[in-house]
Parts: sequence; structure tokens; C-alpha cells
Amino acid sequence: MSSVSATTKTTSVPKGRDMFASKLGVIVATLGSAVGLGNIWKFPYLTGVNGGAAFVILYILCTLVVGLPVMITEHSLGRTARADAIQTFKKLAPNSAWWLVSGAGVISAFLISSFYTEVMGWVFAYIAKAIKGSILSSSPEVTSSAFSSLISDPVQSLVYQWIVLAWIALIIGLGVSKGIERVVKALMPVLFGILLVVCIRSLTLPGAVEGLRFLFKPDFSKVTGATVLTAMGLSFFKLSVGMGTMITYGSYFHKDQDIPATAVRVMLSDVLVSLLCGIAIFPAVFAFGFEPGAGPELLFITIPTVFSVMPFGRVLMPFFFVLAFIAATGAMLSLYEVPVAYLVGSHGWSRKKATWVTLAALVVVGTLPALSGSLTAHIKVMGMNFFDLFDWLTSSILMPVGGLFLCVFAGWRWGSANIKAALTNDGALRNEKVVQAFTGLVKFVTPMLVLVILLAGLKII
Ligand code: TRP
Repeated sequence: MSSVSATTKTTSVPKGRDMFASKLGVIVATLGSAVGLGNIWKFPYLTGVNGGAAFVILYILCTLVVGLPVMITEHSLGRTARADAIQTFKKLAPNSAWWLVSGAGVISAFLISSFYTEVMGWVFAYIAKAIKGSILSSSPEVTSSAFSSLISDPVQSLVYQWIVLAWIALIIGLGVSKGIERVVKALMPVLFGILLVVCIRSLTLPGAVEGLRFLFKPDFSKVTGATVLTAMGLSFFKLSVGMGTMITYGSYFHKDQDIPATAVRVMLSDVLVSLLCGIAIFPAVFAFGFEPGAGPELLFITIPTVFSVMPFGRVLMPFFFVLAFIAATGAMLSLYEVPVAYLVGSHGWSRKKATWVTLAALVVVGTLPALSGSLTAHIKVMGMNFFDLFDWLTSSILMPVGGLFLCVFAGWRWGSANIKAALTNDGALRNEKVVQAFTGLVKFVTPMLVLVILLAGLKII
């Protein structure tokens, strides 16, 4: 039925369009997008708040049946169209409204970037504080008041965010292969090195077992629909899917890149990093008798206290925040690349102009979450300040809805023949089973699951 001639041939690379230079570069840059504050800040605090192992299992399951298929879909669409997220839909489904899916994605990219750069700003501030020693205290009151005074100071909140934005814009301005790929490739090994050292330190503390039990021994009694939605939102956020980042990155893949194998490697490595972050954090938290459920502040209040009392902790702490900053850099680069690729690809702007305009837009939108602890703290939408609102709106609504539409588009509109062509590199790869399994997932399982979890999580069903 499905003849190969009916498929959209992979677009040849338009002249002057940048690409990832090597296969390793593709994996590293894609992994660099996935690994970020999601692993070091979000995963531990959500695991802490949601009771530990049961949440970890839900997150891994969602990653397998939702995050991974959506990632493969995005890479396939992007590489076939060789275009930014919006042009990809315009090329693959001309004269239709499908482009609105990635139109919403570009908006998500802005919302995520605006709070992401703020958290990154705190991390940057904490590198300096850890070196100076001003957050070294065994008393949570001291570290907690250090954090409050940072977030309630509008000037510091904005300045740190701007420093982060300038750093990211600088790398983006250098381009895809010379900027993103080169920087992430250089920093990734450093990240793994520091993470392993911190894990070993944490695991060798007396009482570490309690933390491991929390992380790996599940208790499903407290799981609700909202917990599952949070776990699914995390799986979207973690793999940077559901809003076009991976379409954009897929468009820089070479035509012989094995898409499913790449996605599986990235997914496994990313889950591993999350678990390692959990292993770095929870044994230490429990060993010193702290509460795992501190919430978003876990990284900024509990962790400095834990490091302060831990042998060698004071030396390790600056490195730990450097690690978080490195991880966040690769992720933030991929977020920033979405609007830049769109402005260059769809409007023919120069990369430089696109970088500057995106920077200006991010400075403006970024003020809303940046000032959530100070000047805009009293403004609440649905009971949330801008920071929490943007986080919730993207992870619990926009990305799942985006992922749902991406699956429906790939499975039902683009169709099996095109999926097969993309996943086999136009017949070069012998991976029928993978193609079959993926087609079943993307057509039926994944969209149904996303829909049910979304509706149940929002208490609509
Ligand atoms: N995955 C990154 C993290 O875990 C965050 C991120 C980067 C992201 N690009 C994204 C999230 C695109 C959603 C969409 O920190």
C-alpha cells in the first residue's frame, strides 16, 4: 500500500545552512539540550515533593512511552523538512493550520526560557557565593535567608538573568557547529566528572542508605492523577520535546544519522544523569537529617546546608554549582535556538540580527518571572506567581498538548510511509521492528496516554 514514491524525500540541505558537524556532535548537542536544570533542580525537587521512588518510576515510564516517541517524531519531521519548527509544518502540510502546533511551541520556548534563565541566574550567583563562603552554614535558617534575600532583590534577580542571557547569546551568535556543538562537546565530560565525584561523596556518607531507599523503594499509595501529570510533564521537559526544539535540532542532522538509535541513547543517558543527580542529593539529604520535600528551593537551601556539614563539602560545593551551570547552558542554548532558527529560516534575517532581537525579547519577557520574588510577587494568576505559572503552563499544558498534536500529525497526516522513510534513512537501515513498534506507539498508544493523563491530571475526567 505505502509506496516509497508517495513519501516526502528528505530535503537537501539549503546552501549556507549550518549543520551539526559529526555524529558524535549530534548526540552530544542533543543530550546537551536534554540534560539541564531539569535533572539537577527539577527532578530532585519533584521527586522529593512527590514521595520518592513511585514518582521516579512514573517519570521513567512516561519517558519511555511518551517522551521518547515524541523525540523520534520531532527529529524525523525536522530532518525531512530541513527547516525551523514552523517552516517544517508549512513544508510537510502546506495550506493547513498544522503550523500552529509549532507556533505555540515558539511561545513555549519563550516562556520556558524566561524562568529557566532566572534559575540559571541563581545558580550563577551561587557559584560566587559558594566560593566566597556566604552560603556555608549548617543552619537552614541562614541558607534560607541567603536565598530569600537573593530572590526578593529585584536588581540582583535581573542582573544575574542578564548575565546568563549574554553568555547564551554569545554562543548562539557563533552558530550551530562552531557555537553550540563545540561548547557543549567541551563541557559535557566536565559535567560527568563532577557529577561522579559528588555521587561518590554522597554515597560514602554514613546513613546514605536511607536516601537510596527513598529514591528506589516505591510507595504508590500517594500517587494521584496530578502526580502522573507532573511526571509526564517532567518527561517532556527533560527530553526537550513537545514544542519544536527537537524539530529544530533534527533539521541539523545528517541524512545518514540513525534517528531512533540516537534518541534511545540520548534518553538513556538523560535518565542516567537524573538518577545520578538523585544519588548525589538524597543520600546526603537523609544522612544529615534534612527533609527531601523542600520544593523548588531544595537546590538552593537544602543543598548548601548539606554541603556545609559534609566532609569536603565546602570544597565540592562551588563545583556542584558549576556543574549545574554547565548542564543548564546546553539546555538553554537549545531553547534560544528555536526562535533564532525561526527568524533566520522563515524571515531571512541574519543570524546576528535574530540573536539580538531574541535577546531583547527575552530580557523583556524574562522580567515577569525574574521579579516574581519581589516587584510582581503580589500578582497571582490562578493562585500562581509568573514563575510558577510559566512553569506549570509549559510542562503541564503546552508541551503535552504539543506532543499530542505532533503524534497525531506524524501518525495520521504524514503517515506510515513517511515515518518509515525517515526512520530507515530512505531504506538504508534494516530496522523493520523499530519502525513497526514506533508506528504503533505514535499512532495509538502515545496520543491516547497523553490525552488521558492530561484530562485526569486536570480533573476533567
Ligand atoms: N531539557 C532541559 C532540562 O532538562 C530543558 C529544556 C531545554 C527544554 N530545551 C527545552 C524543555 C525545550 C522543554 C523544551 O533542563
